[in-house]
Amino acid sequence: MGKDQLVKEGLKLSLPFSKEACPGQDFRYTWGMAKHDEDKSSKGQLIPAPHHFFPLQDAARLGVFKEAIEQTVPKDGKVVELGGGTGVLSFFAARRAAKVWCVERDPVLADMAEKLIAGNAVADRVEVVVADAMEYLPPEPVDAVICSMLDVGLLRKKQVAVVESFKRRYRQAFPGRELPVFIPEASILAAQPVRQSFDFCGYQAPVTLICDPAARNEGTTGLADPVVYQMAIYGQDLPSMLVGELEVRMATGGALNAVRFITKNAVAILVKEKRTLDWFNFYLVAPLARPMLVAAGEVVRIRFNYEPGAGISALTTTLKVSRKTA
Ligand SMILES: C[S@@+](CC[C@H](N)C(=O)[O-])C[C@H]1O[C@@H](n2cnc3c(N)ncnc32)[C@H](O)[C@@H]1O
Repeated sequence: MGKDQLVKEGLKLSLPFSKEACPGQDFRYTWGMAKHDEDKSSKGQLIPAPHHFFPLQDAARLGVFKEAIEQTVPKDGKVVELGGGTGVLSFFAARRAAKVWCVERDPVLADMAEKLIAGNAVADRVEVVVADAMEYLPPEPVDAVICSMLDVGLLRKKQVAVVESFKRRYRQAFPGRELPVFIPEASILAAQPVRQSFDFCGYQAPVTLICDPAARNEGTTGLADPVVYQMAIYGQDLPSMLVGELEVRMATGGALNAVRFITKNAVAILVKEKRTLDWFNFYLVAPLARPMLVAAGEVVRIRFNYEPGAGISALTTTLKVSRKTA
C-alpha cells in the first residue's frame, strides 16, 4: 500500500477518533489561542513567551514528533524547520541530520532557540535563521521540511500558505528535484454532530469551546461518528477552500446542539509498517444557533466553508445544520 492510499484509506478507516488519544496527558495549554493572534497586524508577536513553552510540557505531542523525525530524517541528511519556536523539533532533527536550518520570524524566540540549541550541544548542526517562512528557502535542497503551524480545522495558523509557498519556490530554485518529505505529512479534518453541555457551574454559556483531546470531555456526547470533510497532504496540492457538505446519519437520538471539529495529523506515514504516527489538535466545539432534537437513523446536513488560516469565526459564521427532508 503506497503513501497516498494509506492516507486516503487507512487514515479514514482509523476513525472514529479516540477520545483519549493520549491518556497520560492532563493539562491545558493555550499556545497561540490568544485572541489577538487573529489580528493579522500582530503577526502573533504579542503572544507572551511563556505560551510558547507550554507545548514543551506536552510529552505526547513531542514524543510523536520525535519518533516521526527519527523515522523520516535520513542519517546525515538536511532539514529545514519552518516556524522553529523553541527549536525543540530542530534539536530532534539534528540528532540525525548533518544540517538543520531552523527558521523563526520572531527575533526574541529565535534568540532563545539559539541559546537552547547551544545548551543541547547541537549548535554545530543547527543554524537559527530569523526570517519569514513565506520567503525563506534553504541554500541547498533538503530531505525533510518540518512545519507545525497547525490548529484545529487548519484555522488561524498559516500551515497551508507556508507549505504551498515553500513548494512553489523550492521547485523554482531546485528544478528537477523531488520535493522533500513534510513533517507532518498530512492533516485529516473531520466534523461530528454532538450534544454538548454548555453548563458551567450553573451558568449557561453556549459559546465556541476548545477542548483537550486527551481529556475525558464528559460534556460532549457524539450523536454519530466523525465524518472526514477534507484531507491536506502536504506533498500534494493543498485545498484553497475547506468545505463541509456532509450528510450524517445519526447513530443516537438526542438534542443536537453543536458540531465538534476534529483534526488528526499524520506526523509521519510509515508505509512499511502500514501505520501513521498521529497527533490531534485541540477540538473545537461550535454551538448551533438553533439546537434540534434528532432521532436515531435520521440524516442531518452539516455545511460550512472557510479558507485555510482564516479565523475561527469564518467557520462558525458559515456553519449551518439542517434536517435532510425526504
Ligand atoms: C506553533 S509554533 C511551533 C514551534 C515548533 N515548530 C514546535 O512545533 O515546537 C509556530 C512557530 O512558528 C512561528 N511562525 C509563525 N509564522 C511564521 C512565519 N511566517 N515565518 C517564520 N516563523 C513563523 C511562530 O512564531 C511560532 O514560533
